[in-house]
Amino acid sequence: MLNSIRNAELQGKIVLCRLDLNVPIHNGVVLDDTKIIRSLDTIRFLAKNHAKIIVLSHLGRPKGVDKEFSLAPLIPILRKHLDLRIEFSDEVISDKSQNKVNELRNDGIDLLVLENIRFEDGETENDPQLARNLAKYADVFVFDAFGTAHRAHASTVGVCRYLPAYAGFLVENEYDKIITTLKSSYKPKLAIIGGSKISTKIGLVENFLESVDCIVIGGAMVFTFMKVQGIEVGKSLVEDDMLQTAKDLMVKAKNLGVELLFPYDFLIGYSKDKPWLENDIPKVVDSASIPSHAMGLDIGLRTIQLFKDQIQKSQTIIWNGPLGVFENELYRRGTEQIGRSVISRAVSTIVGGGDTVYAIKFLHDSLPPNIHISTGGGATLAMLSGHELPAISTLVDNY
Ligand code: 3PG
Repeated sequence: MLNSIRNAELQGKIVLCRLDLNVPIHNGVVLDDTKIIRSLDTIRFLAKNHAKIIVLSHLGRPKGVDKEFSLAPLIPILRKHLDLRIEFSDEVISDKSQNKVNELRNDGIDLLVLENIRFEDGETENDPQLARNLAKYADVFVFDAFGTAHRAHASTVGVCRYLPAYAGFLVENEYDKIITTLKSSYKPKLAIIGGSKISTKIGLVENFLESVDCIVIGGAMVFTFMKVQGIEVGKSLVEDDMLQTAKDLMVKAKNLGVELLFPYDFLIGYSKDKPWLENDIPKVVDSASIPSHAMGLDIGLRTIQLFKDQIQKSQTIIWNGPLGVFENELYRRGTEQIGRSVISRAVSTIVGGGDTVYAIKFLHDSLPPNIHISTGGGATLAMLSGHELPAISTLVDNY
């Protein structure tokens, strides 16, 4: 159990609220406001309980102060959704920000958004001085940035040493749903793992080998497994330094009795951006016959059916990573069809990882209640891989 904001004394307090408002922005326009919308419950709860709020977030990975990564474009969206007096400070630790905090204390405003915390030097190093300075602004700390829970930074972990710290609703919900699904005893349990590289998913596969009955593997990472088996993969992405790892994982799966399901037909192209079309649709081949000048870019219809059959048999599903190059609509079908199948199955399910979530965004409005779409990318991956999330551990410890 996490130390929830429901247990916090909030009346008249200034709450420093770390959110993950790392949203895609192009030319000052927010392209996807999901993370903002999913943060609103916590903000509304704090306001309703008569707290004044300082919102803290990172955006992107700036090297020092870089206005391209400013949080300013988020302000109109927050104002649209919240009936609060909202102001922005274009600095983090400064007299200017302190003056705005004083306005909060004097009831001149309700919510203050500070500029991108990664503009501060000590943030990613978890500098104690920065953590102390942040803490000085407030009376209470609320951590609701699930997407950064795997980062031990000054604004996620450091500040907890200086203020009473609580989990917000988004963190609580993500944590509970992921833990519940990972521990689910409803079997068969299925993991669907996609994405381009085994190197980023080894922890995930290894962890699942201990806990699931079947792992469906898609995305470009499959070609490394295929090469190990002596199958011709053409120009498809292969991580040659991961061949032994892939081999070891296959042996381990066999020893543990975990079924590994690989695709057996593919849509191919000459490159990621150069489709191979026949009658205006991408050419399909058996996995054993990807021509030497082509690469696999999506799973074919026979594979989609194979994977769907497995999904229909499963009682618990965990999905991380797209199954093809979904950014190109010609190679999106596999990921979309698997998304529809997972959602229609409606058993206890976690869908995690930024790309997967984005790839099936069109399905979000029709989600059954037991399907949880996680807002975390690396954080979800870390949790599904069985790693501790430093920002969450702090909230458990504080309890
Ligand atoms: C994310 O988008 O996954 C989170 O905001 C974390 O961002 P980071 O990987 O830059 O820490």
